[in-house]
Amino acid sequence: MKSSFPPKPSPAVALAPGVWQIEFGEPEAHSPSSVFQPQMALDRLAALPAVEALPWDSASIRFEQTARGVQIYLPLAKTERVYGLGLQLLSFDQTGLRKTLRVNSDPKVDLGDSHAPVPFYVSTEGYAVLVDTARYASFDCGSALPVADPDRDQPEKFGFALGMEALYAIRDSDRPREMVVDIPGVTGTRIFLFAGPEMHLAVQRYNLFSGGGCVPPRWALGNWYRARSDFDQEQVLRFAQTLREDRMPCDVFGLEPGWQSRAYACSHVWSDKFPEPARLIEDLKSDHFETNLWTHAFTHTDSPIYSDLLPHSGNTSVFGGIVPDFLQPEAVERFSELYRTQTTSLGVSGFKLDECDHSDFMPYPWSFPEWTKFPSGVDGEQMHCLFGELFQKAILRSFEKEHRRTFGLVRNSQAFAAPLPFVLYSDLYNHQQFVRGILSASFSGLLWCPEIREASSGRDLLRRLQSGVASPMLQINAWYIKNPPWKQWDVAANNRDEFLPDSEGLEAACRGVLELRMRLIPYLHGAFYDYWKTGIPPFRALVMDYPNESESWKCDDQILMGDRLMAAPIVGESDTRSVWFPPGQWQSFWTGESFEGGRVTEISEDETRLPLYVKSGSLLPLARPTLHTADPGADELELRVYGNGAREISLMEERDPSIPFDETAINGVTFSWNSATGEIQMQRTKPEVPARYRVTSVTHFAGTNSGTVG
Ligand code: GAL
Repeated sequence: MKSSFPPKPSPAVALAPGVWQIEFGEPEAHSPSSVFQPQMALDRLAALPAVEALPWDSASIRFEQTARGVQIYLPLAKTERVYGLGLQLLSFDQTGLRKTLRVNSDPKVDLGDSHAPVPFYVSTEGYAVLVDTARYASFDCGSALPVADPDRDQPEKFGFALGMEALYAIRDSDRPREMVVDIPGVTGTRIFLFAGPEMHLAVQRYNLFSGGGCVPPRWALGNWYRARSDFDQEQVLRFAQTLREDRMPCDVFGLEPGWQSRAYACSHVWSDKFPEPARLIEDLKSDHFETNLWTHAFTHTDSPIYSDLLPHSGNTSVFGGIVPDFLQPEAVERFSELYRTQTTSLGVSGFKLDECDHSDFMPYPWSFPEWTKFPSGVDGEQMHCLFGELFQKAILRSFEKEHRRTFGLVRNSQAFAAPLPFVLYSDLYNHQQFVRGILSASFSGLLWCPEIREASSGRDLLRRLQSGVASPMLQINAWYIKNPPWKQWDVAANNRDEFLPDSEGLEAACRGVLELRMRLIPYLHGAFYDYWKTGIPPFRALVMDYPNESESWKCDDQILMGDRLMAAPIVGESDTRSVWFPPGQWQSFWTGESFEGGRVTEISEDETRLPLYVKSGSLLPLARPTLHTADPGADELELRVYGNGAREISLMEERDPSIPFDETAINGVTFSWNSATGEIQMQRTKPEVPARYRVTSVTHFAGTNSGTVG
C-alpha cells in the first residue's frame, strides 16, 4: 500500500463505548493489539456509565513523522497528574518525569526500565491512553516544554542575572505542557483512547477492552510456599507434611528449578530426583496442596523438543539454549504439548514463568539482545515487548487442552494483560518498593506480589508477610532456604538447621498473618469477580478512587483492596506510621476504632497486625481460617458489621473452580443486614449453582460514628 507523505492521522474511530482508536502512518505489523488480539468485553463495557467524549478534543493530538521515527503530542494540563507506564518500582507519580519503556529485570535508576513496562498512562483528569507499539517508546510526561510563544506565554524570570531564586524559575513555568511520546525507528503507529470521566473508569474501560480481569480460583488466593530448589521428591513431600503438622495455612506448593533434568537452559522434563511425578502431585493433592512449577522458555539441547523448536527459534542463545519464537504457532504447539504431557495432564495447577524479562547487566547471555532475528520477522526489541505475554499464552494452551483453570507467576508482561491469570514478581527490591509495585501495577492491568523470603528480624518477616496479605498473591519464595523462615529468619543459620530459641512464638505470629489472608479470601475472591465484571483492579492506588484529593497523588504505600478495605503496611522496625484516610469515616479492622477521613493520622499497630481499615457502614465477611481452601470450614463466614452496616456485600460462588472461568456457573450472593432486627438476608443470582457460603456468626463494631463512606 502506498502512503502519502507526510502521513495524516486517521480520525478517531469509536471501537466501544468510551474507547477510540487513532491510526497514523503505517503501524508496524507486530504491535500489542495485532499480536494479542484483545477480546473486548463489549457487554460489560456498555454497562459502565455512558461517556460521550474525552476531556479534550482528540483532534488536538498531533502526530509527526521525522527521520528519527514517530512523535505523538498529547494535551497535558498544568494541574493534571499521570500514572501508569506498567510496573514501575522506583517511582509512582509519573508527572514531570521522562521514561523510556525498556524491558529490563534489573532497573538501577528510575528511567523506565521494568519487568513489565506498558505504553499506557492514565490521568487524574479522567482518561487513559495506550500507545500500540512493540518498541521501547519514551514518554515525556510534561518534562519537555514547547518553545515559548511571546504573544501567549509569560516570560519566565530565568537566568542567574536575576538572582538565586529565579535561577530555576522555569520549573514553575505557566507555559502549557504536553505529553510527548517518542517511538524511534517506526513510520506509523496507533493509539487507543479511554474515557472516564472518572479516573478509575478510564482504567476500567482499558481492562474491559482487554477482556476483563482474571478470576483466580479460591486456592490461588490462599498462601503459597516454594521450597528449596535442590529438594527431591521425598523431601518435598516431607516438607509439605510439616506445614500441615505445624498448622501453617498453605494452598499451593511450588517446586523450583530442581524438578527439571536441566535448568538454565531448561529441558522441560522431570529430573531423576523426581522418579514418580504423578505420585508426587497426587500425594500433594490428597493433602490439598496445588502444585506449581518453576520454568523458563530457553530450551536446552537435551530437551525432547529442541530439534522441533530449532527452526522456530531466534538466532541468539540464552544460557546456551534456544529462544522459541512464540509468534509461530508450531513453537506454541510443540511447547504446550510437552508441558501438557509432562505436567498439566498429571494435575500440575500452574507455573512460575521465570527469566523472561531481559537483563543486559550480566556478563553472560541472560537474555536475547535487541538485534536478535526471529523467524516470524520480529527483532529482539519487539520480541522483548511481546515475550512475557506470548510465553503466558503458550503455557495457557496446555491448560486449555485439558480444560482446566490455572493461576501462576510471571516475570514479564505487557499491554492487555488483565485477563491473564498471572502475577508479576521479582526479588530485586526493598520492602517499600515491593509495596509500591502493587500500586503502580494496578494502573495498567497488571498484578504484582511482593517477595517474601529473607528478613532482618522476626518482626521484619511479619511485616513482609502482612504486605503479602495486601497483595494479589501471598507467596513465601524460600527457594534457597531449607527450613521455613519462621523457624529461623537468618538464612545461613536456617540452612545449618539452627532454629531461633523463640521460634514457636514467631511461628504462631506468622500463622496469625497467614490466617488473616485465609479469612479475607471470600472478600478478595469477590473483588476479583468485580475485576472481571467491571474492570476495577482488586488492589489499587488511592489516587484511582480519589484523584481530586492532593494527598492521594504521592500515596504509594497504602492499598485499596476491593471496595471497602484499605491496608497501610508497615515497612521497617517501627510500630507506627502515618496514614492518610480518604474522605468519610473509617474504622480499624481489628478494634472498630473510628478514624476521621480527609486527614493524616499517626497510627500504631503491633508487629502481629497489618494496619487494616474498613469503610464505616460496611459489611465484611470473613472465612473461618482453615489450613487450605478445600476445607468446608472455609465456607463458614463471620459477618462483621462496621458502623451502621448499611453497605451490603456481594461475593461469588463457583460451581466448579477447576474448569475455565464460566460466568454462567457463577452465583453472585449478596448479604445485607437489618440493623433493627439483626437479621441477615442473602440473595443469590442463580439458585441452580450450589450455595457455598453460610453465615455462622455476626460481630458488630459500632464505632464512634456510624456514618458511611461513599
Ligand atoms: C530467580 C527467581 C527466583 C528463583 C531463582 C531460581 O531468577 O527470581 O525466584 O526462582 O531464579 O533459580
